[in-house]
Amino acid sequence: MSEKLLDSHSNSFRTVAENVAPVETPYRRINTALPAPDTLELLAEAESCFPEVNCYQPPIMWERAEGYQVFDRAGNCWIDFSSTAVMCNSGHGHPAIRAALEEHVRHGLLAQFSFASEIRVKLAQRLVELAPEGIDKAYLWTVGSEAIEAALRLAREWGQRQNPEKYHVLAFRGDYHGWTLGAHQLSGESAAKPWLKHPDAAIHHLPFPDPGAESPAGFDSLNQSLSDRGIVPGQIAAVFIETIQGWGALPLCREYVQQLRRWADEHRVLLVFDEIQTGFGRTGKLFGHEHYDVRADLLCVGKGLTSSLPLAAVLGPGEILDLLYPGEITTTHAGHPLCCAAALANLDVIFEEGLIEKARRTGEIAREELQGLQRRFPDRISRVSGLGLLNAIHLRSPKDGSPDERLARELTWAAVKRGVMLFQTNRPTVKICPPLIIPPEAVVDGISAIGEALEELIS
Ligand SMILES: Cc1ncc(COP(=O)(O)O)c(C=O)c1O
Repeated sequence: MSEKLLDSHSNSFRTVAENVAPVETPYRRINTALPAPDTLELLAEAESCFPEVNCYQPPIMWERAEGYQVFDRAGNCWIDFSSTAVMCNSGHGHPAIRAALEEHVRHGLLAQFSFASEIRVKLAQRLVELAPEGIDKAYLWTVGSEAIEAALRLAREWGQRQNPEKYHVLAFRGDYHGWTLGAHQLSGESAAKPWLKHPDAAIHHLPFPDPGAESPAGFDSLNQSLSDRGIVPGQIAAVFIETIQGWGALPLCREYVQQLRRWADEHRVLLVFDEIQTGFGRTGKLFGHEHYDVRADLLCVGKGLTSSLPLAAVLGPGEILDLLYPGEITTTHAGHPLCCAAALANLDVIFEEGLIEKARRTGEIAREELQGLQRRFPDRISRVSGLGLLNAIHLRSPKDGSPDERLARELTWAAVKRGVMLFQTNRPTVKICPPLIIPPEAVVDGISAIGEALEELIS
């Protein structure tokens, strides 16, 4: 594996066209060097006008995307295994969503703030209808991080009204909840971030209960973790849980979550499920927490809610969502009417096209194929994980078996050169998360291309 490859393509928009073998299958097509020579100039402009932080995905200039495929202007065509950050559940630009948007642009509101409108009411009602029992309100936002931020605020407000000491919040190591101040502190290994001199001392991270780990964190460790920190369960307002840990598509131990639910009921603690990546059919259920057969107190949703425009929400009972006084927290664009139109059309597509069941069935096929890859490359792929169409392969070094982020980055680019659109996770994983509408044959074709890419990289 060459240094040049890694430096020039895997983690930036820096652009040197690389000759690649032509690809032509019914699902993907690569006809030019990559990045395509006539996109190089624009990529260079992207690199000069975007900050570095935005320049880390494979250097392909997306021109259009339809269904489960992405195209550049040179006519190259990729199977999209990214769903643009696990977002396009009903596919790119579904005709029903396009039609709803066109209709709304012609006749509907383009701006609204916190006034009422029919389309917003309809969406809130639809979300409440779909949400589990006990949830009767939808607090609309624009992006997932904001929904998490609002849920954090609500959970603490709720806790402290019962007992001024009930404001501590638990989350799991390795979970991701967003980038805003509260959401970022809920994410990751610990609340302490190097740039943050005074982190929130009442956010605590628990070991992630990974059923696939050599010694999975048992539920008993929770009480121990609390007493180590000098707190008691009555001081906990909420536990935030990514229903499948995103970077590695890792489900939690089912028994652990069920014990957690019982413990939460006993100590009046809210379970807040972060369904921003896992909601709306992605995992083969409407919501990811259904895999654990437990009740949710609050749900945070986004991404696949529209499969397109930015919209997010906290779903919960009025008893919690009504705790803030009118106008206390809001933003200008929250619940934008155009996004509501996209969401309503998207939700119809998910049900009319049976996408939840499709995700479950196609997901099984995807995991069988990925397990085949693992059998073929046992010293490079340590694990295949996921549910529905949220899946990952975990890469490892053949030398000592340690997680291999570099191989994951190289494999991402090598697969892109074969017509499979992957995204950099910046972790030792490659995620396979196509739109739920993808035909199983395209999944099999794309995974075989990942196998070829890995074969070539390590030979
Ligand atoms: C599980 C989860 N929570 C929260 C977020 C943050 O959402 P957004 O990027 O829309 O702010 C993400 C985004 O990737 C996510 O995957």
